[in-house]
Amino acid sequence: MEHTLEGQPVDQVKDKKQSRKTPGYNILLIGFMGTGKSTIASRLSEATGMKVAEMDQIIAGREGMTIPEIFEKYGEEYFRNAETSLLAELQSGTNMVISCGGGVPLRENNLTEMRENGKVILLTALPETILDRLKDDHSRPLLENNKNAGFIRELMEKRRDRYEAAADMIISTDGKTDLEICAEIMDCLMMEERA
Ligand code: S3P
Repeated sequence: MEHTLEGQPVDQVKDKKQSRKTPGYNILLIGFMGTGKSTIASRLSEATGMKVAEMDQIIAGREGMTIPEIFEKYGEEYFRNAETSLLAELQSGTNMVISCGGGVPLRENNLTEMRENGKVILLTALPETILDRLKDDHSRPLLENNKNAGFIRELMEKRRDRYEAAADMIISTDGKTDLEICAEIMDCLMMEERA
């Protein structure tokens, strides 16, 4: 029989999920590129029944271009403005898992927006882990000619304060499975709800 993260039979949980109270806020996943935000967003969605909003995917879909094409054609500032508008749009709803692009917490007004109506979860990973995960990826313009741990570490350090300022909780992903990460997040959220 298939079991859930909490070890309950899936069938029982499916029934429960239909009637489960949704949290009434958004869950926002933030963190450096390659920390697993999209994957964990899908896992959380499976576990909670909340819908996923993948910011990069939505922006690319609306523009009819890939992220590297948007950067090339219109520049980074244009992309950052699209992120800010989309974030505001998404925060007017609730009960969504929002997978934010890695640069979203860099703007102060985005932080205010995120905290308005969401729990912000920062996923972290070592530069070496990121490099390993993204070495064959070509969808991140900022890393395209910079695929080395030194560059990743430096950019990560530049962003660290912004990421940490935005976060309600910080979850390290190194050496953990998706399910372990997801279970850790759900435990933290449940503890906060009880507190
Ligand atoms: C970026 C992260 C990317 C994407 C864009 C810029 C960043 O998203 O938004 O390439 O500045 O960190 P992911 O974090 O989902 O890779």
